[in-house]
Amino acid sequence: MSGSYPNLRLRRTRASGWSRALHRETLLTPADLIWPLFVTEGSGVEEPIATLPGVSRWSVDGIARRAREAVELGIPCVALFPNTPAAKRSDDGAEALNPDNLMCRAVKAIRDACGHDVGILTDVALDPYTSHGQDGLVDAAGYVVNDDTVAVLVDQALNQAEAGADIIAPSDMMDGRIKAIRMALEMNGHPNVQIMSYAAKYASAFYGPFRDAVGSSGLLKGDKKTYQMDPANGDEALREVALDIEEGADSVMVKPGLAYLDVIWRVKQEFRVPVFAYQVSGEYALIEAGAAAGVGDRDALLMEKLLAFKRAGCSGVLTYHAPVAARLLGA
Ligand code: PBG
Repeated sequence: MSGSYPNLRLRRTRASGWSRALHRETLLTPADLIWPLFVTEGSGVEEPIATLPGVSRWSVDGIARRAREAVELGIPCVALFPNTPAAKRSDDGAEALNPDNLMCRAVKAIRDACGHDVGILTDVALDPYTSHGQDGLVDAAGYVVNDDTVAVLVDQALNQAEAGADIIAPSDMMDGRIKAIRMALEMNGHPNVQIMSYAAKYASAFYGPFRDAVGSSGLLKGDKKTYQMDPANGDEALREVALDIEEGADSVMVKPGLAYLDVIWRVKQEFRVPVFAYQVSGEYALIEAGAAAGVGDRDALLMEKLLAFKRAGCSGVLTYHAPVAARLLGA
């Protein structure tokens, strides 16, 4: 049902700021943001990441301070990614199971500094720990094997849950891992630890700066196309999401973000579950590079893109712009 001109003039409600505010359909707040953080060894260390201008790796003490900052800014959750020292990377990624690895130490430091004022999301996948940079175990032919990898991911998830993680986020795209992790959490006294599944994760060209940040870009040979999704596929994303919900995911993620808004929309319409977008490193870097090249105002560019995720149906967004956006939103 709609009127017609001149009874209906859609510009009427746009004519002043108060009216635009009153008719705004979508709201972005700091509570919609998850802040990804990169952890590195040492103390008092900050290492800027060249391909992610404005983002640094922090040693565990610095990570705890960033988490405190998140609380002050009203950002409800941080996501952790380790830059494992080269000497601790191996074919089988065994460092992922070490209860004293960077990730576990960072989780504990955040808990000590912030209690339960901030959620801690930990990434499950082997790429920050393997000497080949793949997310799982690799056979003689170089193929990432599924079921043996899932067994390791279960132990990795339990290791993170024991350290105090609130949300386990498997980013590996192995088949069946959500069910296996859910069962292990149930059987080992972690019934309230959530799973946010990277359900529709694409084999994307936008992950480059992230791989620099976790130190896997120089190690990775080939690509991840035998497990991450083909960017051409949308129906398949719905099948991935359906499986992960059935297997026990509390929320699902679409990754990358902006190039997959149609997928976000379809997932939300079809399943009505909490959906999150990961605005990935390449997306962040493009905004920064565009602004530096004079394309537009950086703050306006980044806020418009974050709002798009909410309009498409997201409950929230993982974004390296989280602290900037929270400040702009007047936290
Ligand atoms: C790997 C992982 C990746 C990202 C998050 N987890 C990269 C990849 O799959 O190679 C990318 C995030 C980003 O680009 O910001 N398990």
